[in-house]
Amino acid sequence: MQFTPNENDLISDQEWSIETINKVLDLGADIKKIPQKYYTALDRKSICLYFFNPSLRTRNSFEVGINQMGGHGVFVDSKTSWLGQDSESVKDTAAVLSRYFDLIAIRMFPNAVDWVPEKSNELLREFAKWSRVPVINMEDDMFHPCQALADAFTIKERTGKFKGTKITITWAYHPKPLPMAVPNSALLIATRLGMDVTFARPDENFDLPDLIMETAKDNAKKSGGKLTIATDMKGGCDGADFVYLKSWGAKKFYGDAQAEKKLRMKYRGEDGTAWQLTPDKMAAAKPTGKFMHCLPVRRNVEVADAVIDDEQRSIVYDEAENRLHVQKAIMKVLAEKGIKKQGK
Ligand code: CP
Repeated sequence: MQFTPNENDLISDQEWSIETINKVLDLGADIKKIPQKYYTALDRKSICLYFFNPSLRTRNSFEVGINQMGGHGVFVDSKTSWLGQDSESVKDTAAVLSRYFDLIAIRMFPNAVDWVPEKSNELLREFAKWSRVPVINMEDDMFHPCQALADAFTIKERTGKFKGTKITITWAYHPKPLPMAVPNSALLIATRLGMDVTFARPDENFDLPDLIMETAKDNAKKSGGKLTIATDMKGGCDGADFVYLKSWGAKKFYGDAQAEKKLRMKYRGEDGTAWQLTPDKMAAAKPTGKFMHCLPVRRNVEVADAVIDDEQRSIVYDEAENRLHVQKAIMKVLAEKGIKKQGK
């Protein structure tokens, strides 16, 4: 895949202009402050919420957001559709659904496409090609743009700015290899917005896909931000305003958990805390530094209770809440576009 500007859908926010990203962040702030102003923003709009995988935050924040803006959300479980059973083409599914709905949001993790690299992202792009209405990525195997935009919103809410703000995006040990969508999107948006980014992972096996690493470097150069690579979690957290924790799989063993196990176990450490965010590692951040995680998280595996429950440090519930406000802004902006030129 490659990044080509596309503001008709939200497949990745790297494909949106900085102006549109800022418009959504500002609109999200106004929606959060004065929600009643937007009670009819989706009046008589129908939004398809098409899920191939489970969700707590994404499904519920979309459904509540649609309801609060006067629209109607329809939850579709892929198991109850023909596409989910390999019995209908992407083209026919997209063309038909986009005759009913004003927006179509899709979640499709790598396990829904047998961990074939970039396959679910390809499917979403094909879906968007045949859909007459905007398509929103609710997390595929490459990107989680709604999460990234909500996280950027949460940071701006605290600091009022991105430039000069220091964020550490760090890998954590988890017993299973997890998808890369969240770290990919987090790294891209942080570098794009000009933040001072440290990317911490145990070794180069845990680098993100080449396209993401190269684009992040390019983003930092263009935005006047910074991208530093660290191989030590505590050192990587040094002086951070925000520590953004996430686990992901080693790309060399993508989709093969058994083959990856030996490598992953090396970074568990004898007591399981080598790459766990413990209070001593978090202490390397600024005294005002905040802990971020998209959730769900494995407590006392990825992060110690003492960090996630530290009310001075942890802003994970703010991040989860802000999904609601930012997605309302995303839906409003995309719904106003109406029917796209492409599609059937
Ligand atoms: N962060 C996130 O997308 O959570 P869910 O998987 O619960 O939707």
